[in-house]
Amino acid sequence: MTTESTIQFTPERLAEATEIIARYPEGKQKSALLPLLHLMQEQEGWTSPEGMDYIARMLDIQPIEVYEVATFYTMYHVQPVGKHVIEYCRTGPCCLMGGEDVLGHLKQRLGIDTGQTTVDGQFTLKEVECLAACGMGPVFQVREKYYMHLTNDRVDEIIDELSK
Ligand code: FES
Repeated sequence: MTTESTIQFTPERLAEATEIIARYPEGKQKSALLPLLHLMQEQEGWTSPEGMDYIARMLDIQPIEVYEVATFYTMYHVQPVGKHVIEYCRTGPCCLMGGEDVLGHLKQRLGIDTGQTTVDGQFTLKEVECLAACGMGPVFQVREKYYMHLTNDRVDEIIDELSK
């Protein structure tokens, strides 16, 4: 079911979206879906149902085609998130380097479990698959920045820094 959208791109983002769509041949506008979802998330802070429906109309595709993609990739936040989204690698090599213990410490420090946001709205914790920094694990990502060789002490330092 689609929602009536009150969300739309700002004029600047609309211009950018239009330029992205124009890169693809007629009838292949769906190829612009990933970058448009990024634009929406940048603008709104998350990928809401209204935002996805707006993109579906823009690309002339079914909303389910947008939902399928947005829910497949962990980089899209389909629930509202905190100011900092910690994307923690839960894949084997990082686990072998102590990733699970450090994750436990991180959860304790934040007082939340995976998929939750702290009450002050500062942090959301997500678990994701390999971040391609396996030799430097345990690792998590906040936006474009990677935090590697994590230990409990290092996690505390990072949370303190991000909380400022
Ligand atoms: Fe963690 Fe690859 S297994 S970055």
